[in-house]
Amino acid sequence: MIKESPEDKCGIYYFPPPFLYYSKVHDHEKIKEKLYSEIEQNIKESKIENNWPCDVISSFHFDDGEFLVDNEDLMNAIWEAYNQCISYLKQDHWLDESLAEKFHYMSMVDIWYNKYEVGGNQEIHNHNKFPMSGIYFLENTGLANTVWWYGSNNMFPGGHSDYFSFNPDILGNDNVISQVGEGYIVLFPGPLAHYVPHTMHKKTTISFNFSFEE
Ligand SMILES: [Fe+2]
Repeated sequence: MIKESPEDKCGIYYFPPPFLYYSKVHDHEKIKEKLYSEIEQNIKESKIENNWPCDVISSFHFDDGEFLVDNEDLMNAIWEAYNQCISYLKQDHWLDESLAEKFHYMSMVDIWYNKYEVGGNQEIHNHNKFPMSGIYFLENTGLANTVWWYGSNNMFPGGHSDYFSFNPDILGNDNVISQVGEGYIVLFPGPLAHYVPHTMHKKTTISFNFSFEE
């Protein structure tokens, strides 16, 4: 089920749950301009050597993401998306009062960047144990090609489609969901598996995890 607000350029897709929330970042150009060069600089300084079975430069394990956390526009964009996502989940009765309260006091615990060249990819993984994670498509010369997989260990058995990607050929192109790409934030439950197939275009994303406050 897709539920959208075209004026706000955001929406939510239920598999049925788990969900994928998406929204356009209003200050995207400003954020991109500042972060793009900072990421290039950070790649040089961090001496990143990822030994994962995939082709991506990722600052996960190499950098604490301080320069990302210090970017006020980026943080505002992420929390704005987060709050809108929670309000969809509450409206649609996926969060009862006590869970809604817990989601109200969430904190961001990790933030890192991923840089892909043409042909780059990332193997299937999840962000267990975090209840919520997100991706900001900072630079993406094509559509967002991440695929979310909702396979044999269904957290919420539903019998519906078991994977999702932002593909206008399937979703139609008269809605917000088919525009998700550069400048959009996507939020999803951390345990939901996802991967990046060999990408046909360059892309840089920022990923983050949220955790309940202890
Ligand atoms: Fe991920």
